[in-house]
Amino acid sequence: MTYVEGPIRAFAIATVFWGVVGFLMGVVIATQLAAPLLNLDLEWTTFGRLRPLHTSAVIFAFGGNALFATSLYIVQRTCRARLFGGEDAGWFLFWGYQFFIVMAALGYVLGITQSKEYAEPEWFVDLWLTLVWVIYLVVYGGTIVKREEPHIFVANWFYLAFIITIAVLHIGNNISIPVSLFSSHSYSAPSGVQGAMIQWWYGHNAVAFYLTVPFLAMMYYFIPKQADRPIYSYRLSIVHFWTLIFIYIWAGPHHLHYTALPDWVQVLGMVFSVVLWMPSWGGMINGLMTLSGAWDKLRTDPALRFSVAAVGFYAMATFEGPVMSIRAVNGLSHYTDWTIGHVHSGALGWNGFITFGALYFLFPVLWRKKAIWSQKLIEWHFWLATLGIVFYITAMWVSGIMQGLMWRAYDELGFLQYSFVETVEAMHPYYVIRTLGGLLYLTGGLLMAYNLWKTVTSGEAAEPAPAAVPASAIASPAE
Ligand code: HEM
Ligand code: HEM
Repeated sequence: MTYVEGPIRAFAIATVFWGVVGFLMGVVIATQLAAPLLNLDLEWTTFGRLRPLHTSAVIFAFGGNALFATSLYIVQRTCRARLFGGEDAGWFLFWGYQFFIVMAALGYVLGITQSKEYAEPEWFVDLWLTLVWVIYLVVYGGTIVKREEPHIFVANWFYLAFIITIAVLHIGNNISIPVSLFSSHSYSAPSGVQGAMIQWWYGHNAVAFYLTVPFLAMMYYFIPKQADRPIYSYRLSIVHFWTLIFIYIWAGPHHLHYTALPDWVQVLGMVFSVVLWMPSWGGMINGLMTLSGAWDKLRTDPALRFSVAAVGFYAMATFEGPVMSIRAVNGLSHYTDWTIGHVHSGALGWNGFITFGALYFLFPVLWRKKAIWSQKLIEWHFWLATLGIVFYITAMWVSGIMQGLMWRAYDELGFLQYSFVETVEAMHPYYVIRTLGGLLYLTGGLLMAYNLWKTVTSGEAAEPAPAAVPASAIASPAE
């Protein structure tokens, strides 16, 4: 039996390509915030249109392609089964998903969107994605059904939860009525506070089930492989899975504190968010402790360093998130750059780093090479990106907390102490620092692209080709 690998290689290349595009768009909009002149006075290049281009490029194009590549790779290896539907199904998923990305991106630039954050594409793009996604579920589920390995390795549970929940969220949040059959615009079916609630049930769980759950699947597969150690506790990984998915789905209302949403719903969202800290850290500890007895590898293997640092950033973001969900804290943080800092400690540190670690692992295996072309360049990538994150998030913390405090400062007569424009002026230096951080992160991404390109074109060939790896080599389910 041979595994389907062509489409997986394509997904891996697309991950690198869209990553660089997404980081570049991040740097562009960060520069626009520091120097508004760069909006160029053209409707297509305004911050408002380029911002969703950035968020979708990094989440759905960079993150999405990474998830397709890793899930289709892992499911075959851990099930010892060829992909259900074979090469054809794999290629349909690849081109179908790229078509979705391009359609969505064109819509943003041309102003054809339904203005729901992270769900901006209009109804016809949504319908296409639904088709691709259902086929993804059939291909993934079909591979699990025909597996030869009796046990279903835990990463597959996380990927399955991601595929199923994203389908439910995508359909639930996009129910809308087109203005007419030939109109690209539509009206959302729910409106008012119900519309907001459904949007943030979606938005929050897009973070949960797109940016967290399947990336944890990557953690559960790649860290044991890179460290050559079984998962610290397989039992904990199962407890982690069920508690995480049960609790996450309720936390959406923390995005709507102090709004028209009923108070009890806000408190419910807050309580579930605080409780969420426990399964998040349970999983994080499981990932880190997998290195027990192999910590020395961090000194010699920079790719593993990416994966482990990713888990550290995950710990940070999942500690900060529950704190920000407390209503009193959110009263200060909401609408400020503090949120942006939180987002990017998760996005750059967790999603970015775990993906880089996975790419450095996958490229030599998929192209039958001995190793990555240059370990030195991985080191450079690691330190540039880490420094970039430090610049980005510390600038946003300072800017955000300052912004929140300035908004609520009163003078002795009870008037607001600062005008809005004064708060904007005060943030300017931090926007420059953030741009610098973004540039460092982007430079790291470019080094990775070059290194992976050289690995494919001039890396030393591996002999013999790597053999199939049974799930039992990665973790012992009996533990
Ligand atoms: C070079 C790296 C990056 C830079 C310079 C950058 C910059 C930015 C900027 C300037 C914003 C707009 C902030 C605002 O409206 O005030 C933003 C928003 C956002 N970015 Fe990035 N970004 C980068 C990488 C990423 C990555 C890798 C991800 C995800 C995997 C990501 C996810 C997001 C999200 C979700 C938002 C919206 C946040 C919100 O609405 O609260 N970014 N980014
Ligand atoms: C226990 C886990 C987490 C909790 C309880 C949590 C909680 C929160 C809270 C309270 C906000 C601010 C909402 C607002 O004021 O509007 C927020 C925003 C956000 N968080 Fe988290 N967070 C967690 C983990 C993460 C992780 C790991 C990531 C990224 C990978 C992430 C990505 C985001 C994004 C993208 C937003 C901005 C949404 C928007 O307004 O556009 N969060 N989170």
